[in-house]
Amino acid sequence: MQLCVIGTGYVGLTTGACLAAIGHDVICTDADAAKIANLNQGKLPIFEERLPEVIAAAVAAGRLRFTSDGNAAIAAAETVFICVGTPPDADGKANLAAVEAVARQIAQNARGYRLVIGKSTVPVRTGDQIKRVLTTYASGRFECDVASNPEFLREGTGVYDFFHPDRIVTGSDSDRAATRLREIYAPVLEGRFQCGWHQQAASACGWKPPAWVATSIKSAELIKHASNSFLSMKISYANAIADICELAGADSSEVLRGLGLDRRIGADFLRPGIGFGGFCFPKDLSAFIEMTAELGYDFRLLREVQAVNARRVEQFMRKVREELWVLQGKTLGVLGLAFKAGTDDTRLSPAYGVVRELLRLGAHVRAYDPQAMERARQELSGPIEYCERAEDVAEGADAILILTEWPQFRDADWPAMANRMARALVLDGRNLFEPGELSRHGFHYRGLGRAPSDAVAAPALSS
Ligand code: UDX
Repeated sequence: MQLCVIGTGYVGLTTGACLAAIGHDVICTDADAAKIANLNQGKLPIFEERLPEVIAAAVAAGRLRFTSDGNAAIAAAETVFICVGTPPDADGKANLAAVEAVARQIAQNARGYRLVIGKSTVPVRTGDQIKRVLTTYASGRFECDVASNPEFLREGTGVYDFFHPDRIVTGSDSDRAATRLREIYAPVLEGRFQCGWHQQAASACGWKPPAWVATSIKSAELIKHASNSFLSMKISYANAIADICELAGADSSEVLRGLGLDRRIGADFLRPGIGFGGFCFPKDLSAFIEMTAELGYDFRLLREVQAVNARRVEQFMRKVREELWVLQGKTLGVLGLAFKAGTDDTRLSPAYGVVRELLRLGAHVRAYDPQAMERARQELSGPIEYCERAEDVAEGADAILILTEWPQFRDADWPAMANRMARALVLDGRNLFEPGELSRHGFHYRGLGRAPSDAVAAPALSS
């Protein structure tokens, strides 16, 4: 099938490449001509595991093209995915200017029939507005259906998520649209693909048939915001429980494990930390609160979710100050700058919140992140030394702060790091370690929602 994907951000690029990988002919277009030029030279604007390979294979097979000529791309494909950004306005509402502009562009360049699928995260009833724009600005004989097909791809594992979704949600109001949507996703629904993640047949890599959730357009739009808000709520809940554990002298790992093993609750998204960041949860939560307010519903529950999240960095900094008292002139080793592991994305990263606070208080920062350092160099200012290896942040440091849950930090040479530090202290903002794991290497360790664990003295040498 001929598909056009408008917008080559995290969502559009991953979706376009994976749609090509399952056999469609895909043209990706973007208003940013430099981005398209880079993509045509094989340079990706983001770090996303396995995406370079999936793109290279689809381009080589002639099924994926990139063009800055959006009009021609729209003219060439009967199905158009809208994957442009919906950034927050100052009041927290989603800014839909790009969605509107693209809808107009489609209306002006399409002839015959088009299925226009909204993938950008948008407030409920945006589908109605897209349909209105498409019919108002149509400049020739043009017939269209509008559909909503929200994405649930996580940054860093977007390729995996495309091939292994729990569900595929499609909202439409015509049989014609519903049938085409099913045809587009048939290879994923039936496991007919070489999994771009494992380079194996779907059946060999743990693929399970996803649920096909066909709804009205409004329901599909709401499912996306309701899902992301629920997941944010789970994280804030876990963070609140971690705080309570600390006050009560319980261990949050034990409590949250006990909670998550109830199948009705589920273990995912119960990891306490310095807060959720990135460009989805914080933005979608505000947009959902604003949108429901417009509908006449005061979503106080979600306001509290935001409030709990907003206090995370401050609370973590309180622990840092408790341990180090004065920060002026001290050296802090920072592990992690990205908003989560597996990505180079630093947008609304809570790690940045901590680093900025350290700098404000006069500390020197030695930082390392496996992917986000280039961005951080451009985005953060102040006395930050960027290190080549995780181990190097320890040099002369008064403490190491773990701010992103990169699993490779667990494999660093912690005994050697303890020897390089002014004081062997770790404050773990992601509970990457279990209590006791670092103490045996001589560290005083503090995680979240659990008692600090003291350095275990090395056994005395026998003569
Ligand atoms: C999210 C949704 O998961 C995805 O379905 C949607 O399409 C886009 O938004 P993403 O923003 O890539 O994906 O990140 P996610 O993995 O959901 O994590 C979001 C934030 O929550 C990160 O800062 C992460 O560190 C934090 N988090 C996550 C926790 O603090 N605790 C957890 O248990 C899980």
